[in-house]
Amino acid sequence: MMDTTDTAQRGNNQAFYDRISSAYDAIADANEHAAREAGEQALAVQAGEQVLELGFGTGNTLLNLARAVGPDGHLDGIDISEGMLGITDRKLDDAGLQDRVTLHTGDARNLPFDDDQFDAAFASFTLELFPLEDIPLVLAEIMRVLKPGGRLGIVSMAHVEGDERESVLEKTYRWMHQHFPHIVDCQPIHAARRLEEAGFHLEVNDRREIWSMPVAVLVGRKSGG
Ligand SMILES: C[S@@+](CC[C@H](N)C(=O)[O-])C[C@H]1O[C@@H](n2cnc3c(N)ncnc32)[C@H](O)[C@@H]1O
Repeated sequence: MMDTTDTAQRGNNQAFYDRISSAYDAIADANEHAAREAGEQALAVQAGEQVLELGFGTGNTLLNLARAVGPDGHLDGIDISEGMLGITDRKLDDAGLQDRVTLHTGDARNLPFDDDQFDAAFASFTLELFPLEDIPLVLAEIMRVLKPGGRLGIVSMAHVEGDERESVLEKTYRWMHQHFPHIVDCQPIHAARRLEEAGFHLEVNDRREIWSMPVAVLVGRKSGG
């Protein structure tokens, strides 16, 4: 059961992303697309695979992955925002790819999918939106729905590891998230460590930067298979 803080946080996310859905490609994806696409390439989705995307936003990754899985594969996407779903649905329709993708509105902390269903899962700029205590819940849900040997691709704003300089932008993000969470809903996270703690074996652990802000590009694998 979620406490009232979680419910408020989820409600804020939903309303916020509904509001910005039509402008998202111009204001965010213009900066983020290179890292997002690096994550897609690292995940290396194959023809015929069953793939899940969490927090699909305006659907740019879903379009790319729908082409990668081909006519014999299938994608499911889940996002909390109806506004984002509407934008993505239109793009899939325009591209003639609707039959390869099923869109769901829902919360990534409670996935409406069977155990061992997917060959791969992907989330870009989404894991870092959750309260820190909920990240293990999200990763456990992804682990549950992946087949043994399944892969998880994550692209996320990342904490600077070790005693390297902490970027000014990272400090600013943290401060804003702490004091104005309704404006800055994300924060840099120890994404690689979080995946390993959840039981994923890390196969890709790369770094990118967006305006000096570190971004992690990760692929983790579920054991077995
Ligand atoms: C920063 S956007 C990233 C969108 C896309 N992945 C990209 O890289 O362009 C985060 C997305 O996560 C969705 N989201 C936020 N909270 C969520 C939740 N609890 N469950 C599922 N999706 C959520 C938002 O609606 C939004 O579409």
